[in-house]
Amino acid sequence: MKVLINQSGCVGHARCNNVAPTLYPLGDNGYIASSGFSVPIGEEGLAKRGARACPERVIEVRETSDEPR
Ligand code: F3S
Repeated sequence: MKVLINQSGCVGHARCNNVAPTLYPLGDNGYIASSGFSVPIGEEGLAKRGARACPERVIEVRETSDEPR
């Protein structure tokens, strides 16, 4: 599972970070500091909740088929 973040669309709601601070770090400017990452095994639910928490919908969770289950 991968997360893709449209950083230029972030307006700093910080709700992603409230849900999952380790997955969605904020920069000093209060905006999301990541443009995407591979979700660590076991943190899929957290990643999805963080993505859903963003009112701007700039966080996209993409299922990948190349991962071991
Ligand atoms: Fe930005 Fe959305 Fe998080 S606007 S700080 S990506 S909740």
